[in-house]
Amino acid sequence: DEEKAASKAKIKQLLKEKDAVLVAHYYTDPEIQALAEETGGCVSDSLEMARFGRDHPAKTLIVAGVKFMGETSKILSPDKTILMPTLEATCSLDLGCPIDTFSEFCDAHPDHTVVVYANTSAAVKARADWVVTSSIALEIVEHLDSQDKKIIWGPDRHLGSYIAKQTGADMLMWQGECIVHDEFQSKALRELKKLHPNAAVLVHPESPASVVALADAVGSTSQLIKAAQTMDNDTFIVATDKGIFYKMQQAAPDKNLIAAPTGGNGATCKSCAHCPWMAMNGLKAIESALENKDPSAHEIFVDDKLRVDALKPLDRMLDFAA
Ligand code: 13P
Ligand code: SF4
Repeated sequence: DEEKAASKAKIKQLLKEKDAVLVAHYYTDPEIQALAEETGGCVSDSLEMARFGRDHPAKTLIVAGVKFMGETSKILSPDKTILMPTLEATCSLDLGCPIDTFSEFCDAHPDHTVVVYANTSAAVKARADWVVTSSIALEIVEHLDSQDKKIIWGPDRHLGSYIAKQTGADMLMWQGECIVHDEFQSKALRELKKLHPNAAVLVHPESPASVVALADAVGSTSQLIKAAQTMDNDTFIVATDKGIFYKMQQAAPDKNLIAAPTGGNGATCKSCAHCPWMAMNGLKAIESALENKDPSAHEIFVDDKLRVDALKPLDRMLDFAA
C-alpha cells in the first residue's frame, strides 16, 4: 500500500545518504528480503551475512535479523556503524546460554575445545575456541574430531546431537534450543509424507532428532535452498522458519513447497514456524534505525576486550570456510 511504498522510498534515500547497506537473513519478511536485494544489499544465511558485511565497503551496515548477527558484524567490522531495526530482536539460543553459567561449564572441563554456535552473545563467543554456523558446523567438528579433540558444544542441543551422530565426535552438550525448530512434529510430518509420497523432506538441523530422521536433506538455510533447486523432486516439505519460502520459491520457481507441521494433532503452535524476533524487522523499524535518532535503540556496541577475544574464534571459522 501507499504507506509501505513511502517507507521503502525513504529507506532507499537514507541508505544512500548514510552510505549504508542492508544485510538481511532468509527468515525476515519477504518485503525486507526484496528490499535488500533491490538496494544492492544481501539476503543470506548467518555465515554469508557475516562475510558480506565484513567485505562490503559501506560505512554503515543495517542488519535485519537478530542481535547476535549485528554483534558478529561489529566484531568483524569495528570501524563500521552497525544498526539494527531493533535491539530487542534476540534468539532463544542466545537467551538460554548466559555467559556466567556457560563459562563455569567450560571451566569444569578444561581439556575440551569449546565450539559455539554463532547464535550466542559476544561474551560467549569470547569464551570459545571456535565459532560455527550451521553451514560449516559439520566440517569444523569433523576437523576437530580428526585431531582427537574432545568438544564442548553450545548452545543448540539438536544441532549438537545431529553433528555428534554424523561425526562420532566426543561432545559435551549445552541444553539449549531454538523455539521455532523445536516445534516441528515428527508424527504429523510422517502423516504429511504419506499424502505427498514424491516429496523430499528438507530439514534444518536445529529441529528435533525425530524430525531430522525423516529428512532427505539436512542443512543450513542456504543449503536447504540449494537442495530445493538441485534435487529432482517436484515437491518439498520444508522444516525451517517460513521466511525461507521467499528465496526458496525464487530459486526453484517450478517446485511445490509445503511447510512442515508444527504442534501436531490440532494443538496450537507457539511460534508457528516463524521466529517472533525475526518478525520484529519491519520497514518502519528499518527507517528509524537508519535515522538513528536514538542509538541506544538501534546501534550495536561491543566492549573492546570482548571484541578482540571474540574475533579469534570467528576468524578461525572464516579462515576455515575460505
Ligand atoms: P542459518 O541461516 O545459518 O542456517 O541459521 C539459521 C538460524 O537459526 C538463524 O537464526
Ligand atoms: Fe534463534 Fe531460532 Fe529465531 Fe533463529 S529462528 S533467531 S535460532 S529463535
